[in-house]
Amino acid sequence: MIKLIGVNKIYKNKVKVLDDVNLSVKAGEFVSVVGQSGTGKTTLVKILTGEEKVSSGKVWVGDWDITNIGKAEVPYLRRQIGVIFQDFKLLDKKTLGENISFALEVCGKSPSKIKRIVPSVMKIVGLAGKENRYPHEVSGGEQQRAAIARALVHQPKILLADEPTGNLDAINANEIIDLLLKINNFGTTIILVTHNRDVVNGLNRRVVTVDAGKIVSDRAHGKYII
Ligand SMILES: Nc1ncnc2c1ncn2[C@@H]1O[C@H](COP(=O)(O)OP(=O)(O)O)[C@@H](O)[C@H]1O
Ligand SMILES: [Mg+2]
Repeated sequence: MIKLIGVNKIYKNKVKVLDDVNLSVKAGEFVSVVGQSGTGKTTLVKILTGEEKVSSGKVWVGDWDITNIGKAEVPYLRRQIGVIFQDFKLLDKKTLGENISFALEVCGKSPSKIKRIVPSVMKIVGLAGKENRYPHEVSGGEQQRAAIARALVHQPKILLADEPTGNLDAINANEIIDLLLKINNFGTTIILVTHNRDVVNGLNRRVVTVDAGKIVSDRAHGKYII
């Protein structure tokens, strides 16, 4: 599903942020990526979404070699890869329902299709009945649920979550992780970048540890050890 071979990333300031990263993720896996701040985790996410290019090495998503993906192709990649972030990135002048509809509108889905998809995806994430609330009218946990709903409307094969619980208290964080597990059970591959030791240790799934741009451990039933 995802494959990186010998990936190096050097930004313009010449610091090597990713250093010979090799990683394969199979369809349906739930992988946690852990490591200290500044070790290159978000850079890895950005390479998978086409926002950043590798300096050398190769990257595949499914059968698609995205190593040199052009700007015009990035929107198609984004339909295969949903992304959520620590700060939710919802549009604050739009309701939760509108935030989710918007993701479908921009790629030309018909109003009738949008009307059908939005309530069903809101139900999956536990937001039924909150379509008309604005982001500032709901909790952080609910904002993240809306962001997850938005990421799921295209039924992506992969969901990348970059520190999705970073702004949430423990209860909301656990609820978001339970939701990611539910989405994984539907068959979506999940890559969870996190700092949260309790979350990772509670999952008992594959853990990839990154340190200074290198993968230093990769364990099937890993713990958070840094
Ligand atoms: N656009 C950029 N230009 C230059 N340096 C960057 C850029 N983005 C990130 N970096 C640097 O790359 C390193 C890794 O950053 P990042 O991938 O965000 O790490 P993490 O998500 O693990 O905290 C950091 O030292 C950061 O300052
Ligand atoms: Mg980061």
